[in-house]
Amino acid sequence: MYRNVLLGGEPGSGKSVALGNIVSHAALCTDVDLVLIDGKLVELLPYAPIAKEFVGNNITQALKVLRGLQAEMDNRYLHLAQTSRKKITPKDGYRATLLAIDELAYFSVTVGTPEQQKEFVTLVRDLVARGRAAGIIVVAATQRPSADIVPTTLRDLFSYRLAFRCTTDSSSDIILGTGWAKEGYSAKQISPDALGVGLLLAEGGIPRRIKSAFLTDPHVHKLVRRAAHLRRAA
Ligand SMILES: Nc1ncnc2c1ncn2[C@@H]1O[C@H](COP(=O)(O)OP(=O)(O)O)[C@@H](O)[C@H]1O
Ligand SMILES: [Mg+2]
Repeated sequence: MYRNVLLGGEPGSGKSVALGNIVSHAALCTDVDLVLIDGKLVELLPYAPIAKEFVGNNITQALKVLRGLQAEMDNRYLHLAQTSRKKITPKDGYRATLLAIDELAYFSVTVGTPEQQKEFVTLVRDLVARGRAAGIIVVAATQRPSADIVPTTLRDLFSYRLAFRCTTDSSSDIILGTGWAKEGYSAKQISPDALGVGLLLAEGGIPRRIKSAFLTDPHVHKLVRRAAHLRRAA
């Protein structure tokens, strides 16, 4: 569970579908709380009935939810400090939290005041930097995470990168990290008809070609009903 993931790629390349795969998996894990922030509103909305928090295209609400998560993280670290440990385990009685953000750039550059955008980035950066050991995991999707959109101090904290089709080698490198295109790993080589295909880079490894599972709306609705049932039973 301790894996923060950044997903990038051009519009229509498969980011939201892949993000949905991760959220779907967590939805069926009854010991995980879902905190969902979706700049486009409609991608993660189907999961709203089972989410602890759901925020659409509203930065004021997003900031409120992120501040709450940060406070929770601080509490958890206090608990760890008091019990002389470094990492939350299921025995602590804390639930894992998946923070999923679709269209990160909407909140970091598009909507709200510059102060709000700055606070959004600062809160997400803190959650990515310190959340793991406290059981708070961040998975975020954005088109092109270049420095003007996602500050490198935030981007570089994600240890797992998933690059869907890009128009240039440099865009691919921005997602996977500098130098991979030169080594032959570029998401520019993914053909436009290879829907849902991306290059996944895991901490310390080399990028691997993967394909997400395409879930139709009826699939997702069925899955959410099942997750709601499992969660009630748990
Ligand atoms: N794994 C997949 N298999 C088949 N089609 C896919 C897959 N992933 C994405 N697609 C197709 O591509 C479209 C765009 O995907 P989406 O995830 O919404 O892109 P993005 O979020 O990058 O803009 C989807 O509506 C779907 O038709
Ligand atoms: Mg999308």
